[in-house]
Amino acid sequence: MSYVYSKGTLFSGMEFGYLCTDTSTMNRITISSTIEEYADANELSAEDQELLRSARKAGESAYAPYSSFHVGAAVRLENGTIHIGNNQENVAYPSGLCAERVALFHVGAVYPEIAVTSIAITCSSTRFSVDQPLSPCGSCRQVMAESERRYGKPMRILLAGETGSVYVISGIKDLLPLSFEAEALKIK
Ligand code: THU
Repeated sequence: MSYVYSKGTLFSGMEFGYLCTDTSTMNRITISSTIEEYADANELSAEDQELLRSARKAGESAYAPYSSFHVGAAVRLENGTIHIGNNQENVAYPSGLCAERVALFHVGAVYPEIAVTSIAITCSSTRFSVDQPLSPCGSCRQVMAESERRYGKPMRILLAGETGSVYVISGIKDLLPLSFEAEALKIK
């Protein structure tokens, strides 16, 4: 049996401490993620460098008149082909869509049978310089999780700003731990 130190207050306002038995069943669960950080994009494989370049190019034609924040996404399919997306904003802000989802929904619609094996996501701004990798929003992480589920394969994720290091992540579990899974709905 273990004891914990507890605190009480008397009517007079005086505080006192006492030992009592610890009946708590609390268990601390620690979840860890692994990210590979490359100081220089040239350290990546030729394929990954090509994907990163495609994402950067896609970002150039983003439609971002409201945020001036340009996000480019490039996905590689299992057959080796690359397809792009970029953020598409709207004056009614929530009607716009992030680059990652533009790219993933496009390949999901046009190449429904072909798995997505990797995605590169880059960002830049016309108002300030971005010197660290983009951190994808929660909705895009959820859509990446669905893509992995759909094809039963992990999707590698490459993240980069305009300058600075490049992050490489081996699958969505490292970006979205404890995600809502279809198993919760008892769907097989
Ligand atoms: N954006 C993306 O395209 N992807 C993300 O993961 C985060 C944010 C876009 C949405 C909006 O057009 C702009 O960046 C600023 O939020």
